[in-house]
Amino acid sequence: MHLRTLPVPALIPALVLAVASATAADITARFVDPEAPENLEIRNLGDRAINRLAVTLVNEVSVAVSKGGAEKAIDVCHLKALPLTGEILSGMPRITAIKRTSLKLRNPANSPDPAEQLALRKVESDMEKGLPPKLMVQQIDLPGGKSEWRVYRPVGILPQCVACHGPKENMSPELQARLKEHYPDDQATGYAAGQFRGLIRVTIGDAPPAPPPGAKSPAPTKKKA
Ligand code: HEC
Repeated sequence: MHLRTLPVPALIPALVLAVASATAADITARFVDPEAPENLEIRNLGDRAINRLAVTLVNEVSVAVSKGGAEKAIDVCHLKALPLTGEILSGMPRITAIKRTSLKLRNPANSPDPAEQLALRKVESDMEKGLPPKLMVQQIDLPGGKSEWRVYRPVGILPQCVACHGPKENMSPELQARLKEHYPDDQATGYAAGQFRGLIRVTIGDAPPAPPPGAKSPAPTKKKA
């Protein structure tokens, strides 16, 4: 029903320019229905992984800001500081990549590739229609007939995000200077709580589904009499 095949570059020629360096320029991405039974396993895994990442980020940022002030905490808001392996995503070997991206970037290294551009635009167009931003699942066709999946969660600005993403004039001169030093092209200011900020994305590799928790060894194959 919601399945749309989108040859990514053809649809968004203007955006491809902006992501000319993206390796994903020739990928085909299509949104699949996150609630369809065949996508639930992917959706749920992605959702759980993003949840752990989001909770960790919000906690770390909040603690760092309350301890040292926003100017000392800007190093904490680095998703790349969160390792793929290790505690946060332990037990989730199928998660092959994590990323945060936005249409208004602070760090150009977080620039959206074409498939992410589609997801960002989808959130925007949903919001224009008055629909709440929601979890999205994309199936990406890889060479050799394989697929991987991307699960996206839209993130909004919480009150504690405003310290570093709110209007510049409300920031201390020290914070402004640090942001300018590290992010000379910073576009991610001027936000108010409640606004759409960007996406957290996880990539899930093409591997057989993990058995459900508590599952015993696979059911024995029936012998023919
Ligand atoms: C202490 C300052 C600080 C706070 C508070 C903060 N951020 Fe950030 N944010 C940053 C910095 C610095 C970056 C750039 C990170 C990098 O270099 O990848 C960033 C990057 C991002 C990005 C990646 C896209 C981009 O623009 O590069 C998103 C999305 C984001 N922040 C969302 C949030 C949300 C949501 C909150 C609140 C839960 C938040 N931030 C709170 C400083 C902060």
